[in-house]
Amino acid sequence: MSTETLDYQSGFRNHFATEALPDALPKGQNSPQRCAYGLYAEQYTGSAFTAPRHQNLRSWLYRIRPSVVQSAYQPLKEKAVATAPLAKPAADPNQMRWDPLPVPAEPTDFIDGLLTIAVNGDAGAQSGVGVHVYAFNRDMTERFFYNADGELLIVPQLGTLRLRTELGELDIANGEIGVIPRGIKFQVRLGEGADAARGYICENYGNPLELPGLGPIGANGLANPRDFLSPVASYEDLEGDYSLVAKFSGRFWETKLSHSPLDVVAWHGNVAPYKYNLANFNTINTVSFDHPDPSIFTVLTSASDTPGTANLDFVIFPPRWMVAESTFRPPYFHRNLMSEFMGLIHGEYDAKAEGFLPGGASLHNCMSPHGPDADTFEKATHADLTPQHQSDTMAFMFESRYVYHPTEAALNADIRQRDYVDVWSTLRSHFDPTKP
Ligand SMILES: [Fe+2]
Repeated sequence: MSTETLDYQSGFRNHFATEALPDALPKGQNSPQRCAYGLYAEQYTGSAFTAPRHQNLRSWLYRIRPSVVQSAYQPLKEKAVATAPLAKPAADPNQMRWDPLPVPAEPTDFIDGLLTIAVNGDAGAQSGVGVHVYAFNRDMTERFFYNADGELLIVPQLGTLRLRTELGELDIANGEIGVIPRGIKFQVRLGEGADAARGYICENYGNPLELPGLGPIGANGLANPRDFLSPVASYEDLEGDYSLVAKFSGRFWETKLSHSPLDVVAWHGNVAPYKYNLANFNTINTVSFDHPDPSIFTVLTSASDTPGTANLDFVIFPPRWMVAESTFRPPYFHRNLMSEFMGLIHGEYDAKAEGFLPGGASLHNCMSPHGPDADTFEKATHADLTPQHQSDTMAFMFESRYVYHPTEAALNADIRQRDYVDVWSTLRSHFDPTKP
C-alpha cells in the first residue's frame, strides 16, 4: 500500500505533456531518430487515425521497452466474465435486482473478482457495453491487465483503489470514478486504508466516453472539464516474472513479460486514464414544478451512430435540493426505450424505500415498467412540499439504447432478489369517478 500523494493534470482530453525525467519528451517531433535516455517511442491510438479532429485520440509514449517485447499469448482459463454477444442470448423483460456481491473470503485479485451481470450490443462491432461488478481483497502485484474489448468505467462502492497504469497512477477515493481507455495496461491495488474493495464496471465497447453537449444550459454546468484528472508520467524499471492478461474478443489471454510494463518515462497526447469526483458534479434541476428527465444528470456519454440515442449514458443521482412545487418529487413511473442498469454507491435512492442496497444493482430493460414502490408513492403523495435536501445518496445508471442480456451467472446468483417485482404489488387503485 502506498501512502505518497499523487500529482495530477487537470482537464478533459487536454493535450497533456508529462515526463518523469527532464527532457524525456522529444522537442518538435514525435518519433526522433534517437530518443532521450535510450527510450523507445510508441504511438497508442484511441480512435481511427482519420477520426474527425475533435474525436481524434492518440498519445505518444516514450518507454524503456516497446510493448512488443512479450511472449506469445496463451488462452487463460475462463472467468466469470462474459462479453456480448452471449453464446445463448437471454434478454428478459423482467425487472431484476441483486444484493451486493459479497467480499470474497479467499485471496482474490481484481481480475478474479469480476462477475458479469449483463451485456448488450456486440463487442466485435464496437457497440454496446458489458456491466460487471467486482469484489477483491488482494493487490495485483506480478500481473497486469489490458482490455482490447472496451474502455473501463470503474465505479467504486466499497474501499479505495490505486490504479497503476502505464501512463501514471490514479487514486480513486470513494465517490470518485476512474476511466481506463481501451488497451491501456494497468494494475489494480487496494487504496490506502482498504482491506477489500467492491464496485461496478461499465465496459464500453463503443465510442469513448465524452462530456455531453450542454445545449441551452450554456458553457458551464454538469461535469466541468477542469475537474477531470489524469496522471503524470511515472515509471518503474523492474525485471522479473510478470504476466500481462488481455481481454480480447471476449476471452482472457496471457503473455509473459520479463519486466514491468509500467515503464513509460514520458508521454504526450489526449488519451489517458482519468478520474472524476462525483461531488464536483454541478447538479441542475427544476426550481418550479415537475422534474426534467434524468438525462439532466448525465456525467459522461458514449455516442452511438444515432444522434441523441446513446450507446451508453453514465448518469448519477447526487445529493440535491428538492424544491418542486405541487409535484410528485420522486422519479415518476415510466417505461423507456433505453435500457437501465442501476447501482447505488451510498445512502438511499429516492424511488425505493428498501431493498435497493449500496453495492446492489437493478436492471430495467427496454419498455419494462418501473418506478417508485408503494411506500415511496404513499409518502411522496402526501409529503409537505417544503424545500428538502436529499443528503445521503449517490445512485447511478448505465443507460443504453441496446437491450441488456443478463448472464446465466447473474440470473442464477444467490444474490439475485427473485421477488423484486413484488415491490409494486401493493400499489392499489385510488380511482374514484365521483372525486375529480
Ligand atoms: Fe428508470
